[in-house]
Parts: sequence; structure tokens; C-alpha cells
Amino acid sequence: MIETIEKKYELLFQQVEGLLNKNDQLITNISNLIAAINQSFPKISWIGFYIVDGNNLILGPFQGKVACTKIKIGNGVCGYSAKMKETIIVEDVNKFPGHIACDVESKSEIVVPIIINNKICAVLDIDSTNYSSFNEIDKIWLEKIINLLITKLKLENFNLQN
Ligand code: SME
Repeated sequence: MIETIEKKYELLFQQVEGLLNKNDQLITNISNLIAAINQSFPKISWIGFYIVDGNNLILGPFQGKVACTKIKIGNGVCGYSAKMKETIIVEDVNKFPGHIACDVESKSEIVVPIIINNKICAVLDIDSTNYSSFNEIDKIWLEKIINLLITKLKLENFNLQN
């Protein structure tokens, strides 16, 4: 049976619900979270968190090739998402002004902001080596998953020491 993308996300959501544990550290929870998303979608070439540190985003847990360690808020797709506090879908990274190419093979991207109490705390960045890999369905489900992360862990901030 061919699994629809919706079905895959439903299963992923259930899996993440089981994985996230308030008694574990945030770094532990988000490390497993990105692994679960990565395992569900072969279209992903890189997935990880960038965490707000003053006016910058700094590289957090990720899976994929080595990546840029620091991105100014406002710069690149990640910085733009953090500045606008909204999910950004880029079908062709070559057409996004200021896109930061950590991996030259990367062709499309989705960035979901993590907003807690109206404050931007981090972004989830997902790349693909194919064009137009992400759409509104990915946006809806990834936002649901980030919301689950915030509510299930009762996050008040995104401090990895907690
Ligand atoms: N492409 C991102 C930079 C991060 S890497 O993709 C891992 C951007 O333009 O913000």
C-alpha cells in the first residue's frame, strides 16, 4: 500500500508524542525529534535546530553534513523565518535572495520557527537535494509537531541546559 504524506505525518506525530518526555533534557528530546522526522522522509538531506543567541542563530542538534555555525537573525532562510516569526517554504533555494548555502547540493528548504510566549527561541531547518520538496502539508504538520514539543514539555524557553 502506498502511504500518503498525511498518513506518514499521522504516524510520525504519534511516534513523537511517545518519544517526547518531560523528564528528559530538552537537548535529548530535540535530538530524538529530528531523528524521528529524518527517518520518516527520505527527501530530507539535512535537518536541525538553530537556536537564538542574542542577534544570532547558533547551530544546535542536527543530522546531515557539517553546517554553518552562526546565522544573523534576518539573514538566509533561517534568519528570515526567525525575523518574520513564520514558516518559510523555499521551492528553489537559488531564487531566495541571501540563501546561505551550507551544502551546495541543497535545492529546497522549509524553516519552522519555535515561538514561545510570543518570543522567537529557535528555528527548525529542513533541507532537500530536490527542488520543491516541501509544501503546505509539511508546513501544517511540522508546525503541529513543534506545537506538541512546546506543550508536551511545557517549554517556557529553549535553553538546552534545561
Ligand atoms: N540554508 C540555510 C542555512 C542553514 S543550512 O541549510 C543547514 C539558510 O539559508 O538560512
